[in-house]
Amino acid sequence: MTTRVAIVTGGSRGIGAAAALQLAEDGLDVVLSYAGNAAAAEKTAQGIRDKGRRALAVKADGSTTEGNRVVIAAALSEFGRIDVLICNAGMYPYGPINEMTIEDIDRVLNLNLRAVMVETMEATRHMKEGGRLIYMGSAFGERAPFPGISLYAATKAALIGFAQGVARDMGQRGITANVIQPGPVDTDLNPADGSGADLIRSFTATQSYGKTTDIARAVSFLASPAAGYITGTTLTVDGGLCA
Ligand SMILES: NC(=O)c1ccc[n+]([C@@H]2O[C@H](COP(=O)([O-])OP(=O)(O)OC[C@H]3O[C@@H](n4cnc5c(N)ncnc54)[C@H](OP(=O)(O)O)[C@@H]3O)[C@@H](O)[C@H]2O)c1
Repeated sequence: MTTRVAIVTGGSRGIGAAAALQLAEDGLDVVLSYAGNAAAAEKTAQGIRDKGRRALAVKADGSTTEGNRVVIAAALSEFGRIDVLICNAGMYPYGPINEMTIEDIDRVLNLNLRAVMVETMEATRHMKEGGRLIYMGSAFGERAPFPGISLYAATKAALIGFAQGVARDMGQRGITANVIQPGPVDTDLNPADGSGADLIRSFTATQSYGKTTDIARAVSFLASPAAGYITGTTLTVDGGLCA
């Protein structure tokens, strides 16, 4: 049987690393990209190899067109196909809109939104029937429960519209496009013991942070053949933050 190949952007740490390891567990070979933390990327890649799957870690700045193209090209040249694309790399600018700069706006648009568009454009030129596009959104794409997250929330909300449009473009090719919307998940980006963590936790129904594996399991499901009739929608895994 042909081994499916997944790309996970921002797969060196946090949610992306957990997703990459879960996909390896599910039997996929994995290409993961990272920004600069080569040690973390290699550790995740080794974890994938330890599960008997092929892994490739690619240093590629997701906020540039070149970085987006490099990771797609690496999957094709090294592993010969792309079955699953997880657009996960993201940043979380924090502060009221009146204190933001043009550079802040451009940075977050480039990584959280433009990258997803470019990577999808490139990957869908090669994806076959059964392909899976999964975008890492956020519960804050649906609710902005406290101040300071306007830029972040805007990019994550935009992923919903993008996934809906891509689902229409790809539906007859048997390729799905969906958004996963995590609530607070304990990572370097949003540590469960960070300064604002108690406030964030208080907005969830469970009064708790999620684990990266909670999100990885959602990735696993949406990437599986079992999810073939799910497209153009969101899967919210947020401890009830949006409830
Ligand atoms: N944690 C949460 O509470 C939460 C909630 C909702 C949504 N999300 C979303 O989930 C995704 C992952 O978040 P996380 O918490 O796992 O983040 P994280 O722990 O900070 O990990 C970020 C990952 O993205 C990579 N990355 C950062 N900038 C990059 C760039 N310019 N180009 C390529 N890769 C880059 C990092 O690579 P290096 O290791 O090389 O730095 C790392 O692998 C993001 O889209 C985030 O918005 C997170």
